[in-house]
Amino acid sequence: MKKILITGASGFVGSRTVAALQDTYELITPSHSELDITSEEAVKSFISRTQPDAILHLAALSNTGYCEEHPQESYLVNVISVENIAKAAAMHDIKLVWFSSDQVYNGCTELGLLSEDTPLKPENHYGRHKLVAEQRALEICPESVALRATWMYDSEQPGMKTHKNFVLNFQEAKENGTPLRFATREFRGITWIEDVVHNIPHTFDLPGGVYNFGAENHLNTYETAVEYARIQGLDPDAVAIPDTERFPEHIRNLSISMQKAYEASEGRIRFMTTLEGLSAYIS
Ligand SMILES: NC(=O)c1ccc[n+]([C@@H]2O[C@H](COP(=O)([O-])OP(=O)(O)OC[C@H]3O[C@@H](n4cnc5c(N)ncnc54)[C@H](OP(=O)(O)O)[C@@H]3O)[C@@H](O)[C@H]2O)c1
Repeated sequence: MKKILITGASGFVGSRTVAALQDTYELITPSHSELDITSEEAVKSFISRTQPDAILHLAALSNTGYCEEHPQESYLVNVISVENIAKAAAMHDIKLVWFSSDQVYNGCTELGLLSEDTPLKPENHYGRHKLVAEQRALEICPESVALRATWMYDSEQPGMKTHKNFVLNFQEAKENGTPLRFATREFRGITWIEDVVHNIPHTFDLPGGVYNFGAENHLNTYETAVEYARIQGLDPDAVAIPDTERFPEHIRNLSISMQKAYEASEGRIRFMTTLEGLSAYIS
């Protein structure tokens, strides 16, 4: 059985990934207190000792607002830690897969579904740090795989961490009878975590590089909310208000194209679109 080291196993993605993979793989899931990934020495000795066949690195500071206010901490966890893990992976010839983010696209003015070779100029610390980490990881460990994940969602699950997300925000609006404002000038994929977790095993066979990893979505966030209301048989006006003022400088487009990962995995990595995912989630 393949032995996989998962960092960030207590997090939103990590806890669901562990639940989905634990019967198929031997998983090593150190907690933050058992392995602080910001320590190069600790990472090196943990990996030498446990000798995994692959590393799935999910530990990070994932809150963009927090990273904006704590840029040094963000750099340490979101860049230096990736370097630490890439060095150990390269030293022991271990396949490394880790999560970057679609936030690397947040300064793009190009419209439509974005491919991995789109020129980038991220506008916040989190996006910049993820981009630097992608570059460093590939320099150190050319076979490493960085996955640019989109905004993900799931319901609350017992014993698992859950962040504020699209479906929970929506549910809150529905229950409170207060419509939420959704941006008309923002385009992004929004992905059900089930679809992410189910595609993860195929990522270990990808050639080294950077890959988009999540749902494609041609709609803006307001249109997505309207369609999600319709899927549930709700009156869209009761839950969603168009916010035309947010992102005044330029349209914020984080929508990803999944072509590269689909082709590189010979069709094995395959995501539902955002609307297909929301329909599947509801049903
Ligand atoms: N959630 C999303 O919608 C989203 C979207 C795009 C990309 N991503 C990326 O996907 C990955 C997983 O995100 P997530 O939402 O699962 O994050 P999360 O829920 O915030 O979990 C982060 C995990 O990292 C651990 N961690 C933080 N600092 C650490 C350190 N110094 N040493 C060891 N462990 C540490 C945390 O442990 P403690 O809690 O014990 O500190 C926790 O297990 C991240 O790379 C994130 O940037 C997430």
